[in-house]
Amino acid sequence: MTGPLPTPPEPTDPTGINAVLWRDGKVDLLDQRRLPRDVRRVVCEDVDAVTLSIREMVVRGAPAIGVTAAYGAVLAARDRARSDGPDWQAKFQEDLERLRAARPTAVNLGWAVDRMLAAAATAGAEPEAAMLAEARRIHAEDIAMNQAMARLGAGLIEQQGAVITHCNAGALATGGLGTALGVIREAWRQGKITRVWVDETRPWLQGARLTAWELARDGIPATVITDSAAAQLMRREPPTWAIVGADRVAANGDVVNKIGTYSLAVAARYHGVRFMVVAPTSTLDAGTPTGDTVTIEERDAAELWQAAGGAPDGASAANPSFDVTPAELVDALVTERGIAAPPGPAALARLLPP
Ligand code: MRU
Repeated sequence: MTGPLPTPPEPTDPTGINAVLWRDGKVDLLDQRRLPRDVRRVVCEDVDAVTLSIREMVVRGAPAIGVTAAYGAVLAARDRARSDGPDWQAKFQEDLERLRAARPTAVNLGWAVDRMLAAAATAGAEPEAAMLAEARRIHAEDIAMNQAMARLGAGLIEQQGAVITHCNAGALATGGLGTALGVIREAWRQGKITRVWVDETRPWLQGARLTAWELARDGIPATVITDSAAAQLMRREPPTWAIVGADRVAANGDVVNKIGTYSLAVAARYHGVRFMVVAPTSTLDAGTPTGDTVTIEERDAAELWQAAGGAPDGASAANPSFDVTPAELVDALVTERGIAAPPGPAALARLLPP
């Protein structure tokens, strides 16, 4: 058979949460800044609105940012082809570089932008259908990767008990079941989990606001603790596993993830709690040798002062949004292509897609 590939059908999030949707030729996002108080959606009609939504964390979480950027690239291609005719690619590439720069740490954003740039190169003068097909493939692949990781990661949990997680690595952070929460959902279904301890995840509260909301929706018992309570919990009643996602995994296996992941991993090792990182191969970055070379996003200090009701006169604050967990503290890295346990450079190289 010859001719263009058929447009893939709209991917479906098995949780029904749908953090990201392509609807009526627009990008439709669940507004994560307002959850759990308000369940509202933000509709982006052009690529600049998508870039802003990623920067302002209407949508967040490494894989979800990648999927959103892919749909944003469809808007950019459509609009540039309409306004600039056959020369649409030049301005389109500028749009995508702004999209890439919306947040610096999660590699999935640049990974999706690169895939959409490659699709654009062969998309012709009327690019919308071909670009939408590629964005839907990225979205559908993410859903399938979540399902594969959920099965593999749940297989590592041998003993029934509680687990602990940090940040939100669920449906809100991906196109589907989630990475860490995908494993937790599947292990719960298999009767292996009795409770999920959820770090509140200062200062943006991804754990207290988003993970607690997702788990409650699924009827999975969850208890939120302050980030600094995790070590004491591990001393008194150690969970079987700590399970987290990742924003970027360097070639040596270092894991870049939400601030607080490193201290959780240190506490887990000290207390003999095993530490699992769940991340699709779109989060592996063979081009970055170690975690220490990754740009760590520094966010507005106002996020930090919010809980205190404002900053005392003359006080300053630093708000790094991610940290680096050395590979040696990770017991297992679960990807959709298999498990690296532990995630050394050779094991990681074997997991990378050809
Ligand atoms: O700043 P955020 O909320 O985008 O950070 C998200 C995380 O750190 C997640 O743990 C990571 O992206 C993995 S999500 C599957």
